[in-house]
Amino acid sequence: MAQSNASSGQRISLHGNWSSRFAFILAVTGSAVGLGNIWKFPYVAGQNGGGAFVLVYLCCVVAIGLPIMMAEIMLGRRGRRNPVETMRILGEEESGQPIWALVGLGGVVAGFLILSFYSTIAGWTLAYTIKAGAGSFVGADAATLSAEFGAFIANPLVTGFWHTLFMAMTVLLVGLGVEEGIERAVRFMVPALVILLLLLLGYAITSGDFAAGVEFLFKPDFSKINGAVVIAAMGQAFFTLSVGMGAVMAYGAYLPQDASITSTSFAVAAADTLIALLSGLVIFPIVFANGLDPAEGPGLIFQTLPLAFGKMPGGSFFGVLFFICLGFAALTSAISLMEPAVAWIVERFDVTRQAAAIRVGLIIWALGFLTVLSFSHLSEFQFGRGTIFDNLDFLAINVMLPLGGLMITIFAGWVMCRNSSADEIDPDAGRLYSIWRLLVRYIAPVAVTFVLLSAFGVFD
Ligand code: TRP
Repeated sequence: MAQSNASSGQRISLHGNWSSRFAFILAVTGSAVGLGNIWKFPYVAGQNGGGAFVLVYLCCVVAIGLPIMMAEIMLGRRGRRNPVETMRILGEEESGQPIWALVGLGGVVAGFLILSFYSTIAGWTLAYTIKAGAGSFVGADAATLSAEFGAFIANPLVTGFWHTLFMAMTVLLVGLGVEEGIERAVRFMVPALVILLLLLLGYAITSGDFAAGVEFLFKPDFSKINGAVVIAAMGQAFFTLSVGMGAVMAYGAYLPQDASITSTSFAVAAADTLIALLSGLVIFPIVFANGLDPAEGPGLIFQTLPLAFGKMPGGSFFGVLFFICLGFAALTSAISLMEPAVAWIVERFDVTRQAAAIRVGLIIWALGFLTVLSFSHLSEFQFGRGTIFDNLDFLAINVMLPLGGLMITIFAGWVMCRNSSADEIDPDAGRLYSIWRLLVRYIAPVAVTFVLLSAFGVFD
């Protein structure tokens, strides 16, 4: 525990470094901003009653997600290895327990599960780019678009094709290790996505039921808060910030020693949250103006946004741009879901990055067909939480990410000595550091444990 910090503080990354702090911010933003903001946030908020969910989600981002993001970056930069190896080295250094590597391994598994369904949904956005370009939304009403979406996901050959294409692109980019490519994509795509969302917001304000949308999202009905809403909100906070599985830790390993962990994390969390809220402000006015169901589920954006694109001037053009940007945002997130596994395999088994990416990609691609089929031929096959997709989604996002996050808070807050974490986060141990330490030692672990226990009915 009382090991000296000087030596480990200087450890050199095996994979090179980000060219600057800004490049790192772009990469972490690329990881955080994705389907979680635009696709998942609105539909989970819709299923969980709106305002009450949003309030709990915001609390979870600030009190749990943000401190864990800082902890992950801190651990990653201190270990300077893939998350499995980083946790092993730090576990040994700080407590003589290499068993902490299991936290990294759990993250690798969570990444496999998440990417397996993430890729299916990302495939939907690719397909919708083509549909938008072909003008198939023009003048269509809500019922037509819902029927079209239903027919689309019912065909596993088509959705399987787009899933395959998306996984192939992910493997290609991860295999090439194109930091610059990622940086450049994020630099254009995230601002473009925001501009297109603002354009859609204009449509939602003028043609949607904007007041109803705002009320749904921001007027909490506290009687709606229950265990299920809280676990959904906490899972969403982990998912949208990409924390709990070592993705941010893997990126932290390449962060230059002089970059500030605090301000980086704040910037990313703020941007990510604003984009999610913006997406909600676009979707719900359209939902309420067209008599759609806010609790529609995973198809929500694919049935609402095409309505807007079908009615606004230049809608086909903007629709194509929007789905392309969303596809890119998903790609920069998918890359980070694979990075811990690929970096681990490269370092552990001494294979090339390409070979590691292809192997990992093949396993995830095969797993992905469980999700593809759970929206088509296996949609009637229900157990536990619902379809196979519902179960994968719940296990990975609502259980594995919080568990991983819990372990990270315990390690960063309790096992690691104060000097080691202060050394990375703020050598002067100022006020922000004290707040972080309070959150990571007490608030976050207690809150996560409480929510997990209540999700499993311990308090019923
Ligand atoms: N945060 C991404 C999104 O909102 C998804 C994602 C990327 C992720 N990397 C992750 C989720 C790591 C959890 C863990 O779309």
